[in-house]
Amino acid sequence: MITNKASTGSLSTLTTLFSASFVAALLSANIGMAAEPYDADKYGPQEPIIWTTPTKAIFSHSTHTMDAGLSCDNCHDDIFPMEKGGTAKNGDFTMKSFKEGKYCGTCHDGSTAFDSSTQCGSCHFAPDAPIVFTSPVKAVAFDHSIHVEKGKLACEACHKEVFVMKKGSIEGADQSAPADGDKRKYLEQIHNRYCGTCHDSSQAFGYLTRCTVCHIGVKGYDAMQSDSLKKDSDTGKKKH
Ligand code: HEC
Ligand code: HEC
Ligand code: HEC
Ligand code: HEC
Ligand code: HEC
Ligand code: HEC
Repeated sequence: MITNKASTGSLSTLTTLFSASFVAALLSANIGMAAEPYDADKYGPQEPIIWTTPTKAIFSHSTHTMDAGLSCDNCHDDIFPMEKGGTAKNGDFTMKSFKEGKYCGTCHDGSTAFDSSTQCGSCHFAPDAPIVFTSPVKAVAFDHSIHVEKGKLACEACHKEVFVMKKGSIEGADQSAPADGDKRKYLEQIHNRYCGTCHDSSQAFGYLTRCTVCHIGVKGYDAMQSDSLKKDSDTGKKKH
């Protein structure tokens, strides 16, 4: 009994110590305006909207309403339906439409808000797992984190011109050898078009110098597969 009372006492001391706004700040995902509970009628849904197809993208209501001062009817229902996934049903929820001034591109045109053909990383996510190409040769590994975190490259450095933001575009590209059968010229072409735009011995190590850094081979591929299996079960544990 006594211990019970003591613990209730210390609990109330704790709540006094941690002011209401501090507790609210802890509970609220919005660090900026934490004093009041989040008002979804005023600011829209608190949870960000995340689309996963054809690629992953994120939209936050609070940064648009609370921070940028927009009201619901700036977007609803002329630009977007008030239903997650509703826009995708039109079949043209794409970067091309944005460039033509639709959807996010209504404002993200470089004057009302930052241009949607810049800062891809504000709305998209780089994959955590390395991308492994298996065709025509097995296996070439590409790791986003080396390039984005260590190399400090912006997404646009690659995704505007060199690579489609979708796995498989290199493998799907025309890689047929030239008619004259010049193997060396052909290899130069294929490397220059992609990784070699930077791996030219000046911006990054040259592709002619260290083949096996990229070409990890069948053995490297197998090691990577069992590695990522391990990682998957690790994250599974962390989540719950
Ligand atoms: C800058 C544009 C913008 C503004 C401003 C905006 N919204 Fe939205 N809202 C969206 C987008 C984008 C979606 C998702 C539509 C989709 O997936 O097709 C959405 C979806 C919604 C949904 C559906 C969520 C769900 O899970 O289905 C609700 C509810 C909503 N908005 C309420 C509001 C309210 C309330 C306001 C004003 C306080 C507001 N929105 C302001 C862009 C906006
Ligand atoms: C009605 C105009 C409007 C529309 C439509 C709109 N935005 Fe924005 N957005 C803004 C404004 C204004 C800002 C703040 C100024 C800036 O960052 O350039 C902003 C900022 C942002 C930011 C930066 C937020 C931050 O501070 O980190 C992201 C990310 C973003 N918008 C994503 C989207 C996405 C995704 C869509 C489409 C689903 C969208 N926006 C549609 C007006 C709009
Ligand atoms: C203002 C936010 C925003 C910015 C900035 C942005 N995107 Fe998007 N992007 C979206 C949204 C929203 C979608 C549609 C929903 C989805 O695919 O998840 C989309 C879809 C896509 C798609 C699939 C559909 C299509 O158009 O083929 C690709 C690929 C893509 N973006 C690449 C990029 C690249 C590359 C950049 C930078 C040059 C970029 N995006 C910048 C919000 C943005
Ligand atoms: C140094 C070049 C480079 C940079 C920088 C880069 N990427 Fe990529 N990205 C690639 C390559 C290569 C692929 C695979 C393309 C292929 O398979 O043809 C890819 C694929 C992707 C995919 C598709 C993954 C899948 O499974 O379909 C997404 C999403 C993506 N990148 C997002 C990003 C984002 C977001 C950034 C910035 C934060 C970024 N990338 C920066 C080179 C880059
Ligand atoms: C936009 C420029 C750019 C493109 C395109 C690019 N890289 Fe890189 N890469 C870099 C930079 C910068 C570094 C870090 C500096 C260095 O190692 O020389 C790097 C580092 C690497 C490393 C690490 C090297 C090490 O010593 O650990 C590998 C592996 C790699 N890239 C593979 C690739 C592959 C595979 C592709 C094509 C799918 C590619 N890169 C495309 C710029 C690029
Ligand atoms: C910066 C990364 C990188 C380096 C370094 C690199 N390659 Fe590649 N290589 C690639 C990519 C990406 C592909 C295309 C995807 C695939 O084939 O899996 C490719 C494809 C190839 C192909 C297949 C072409 C075909 O159609 O048969 C050969 C052969 C090849 N490389 C040989 C080499 C040789 C030899 C070296 C060293 C002198 C080298 N590569 C260095 C990234 C690299």
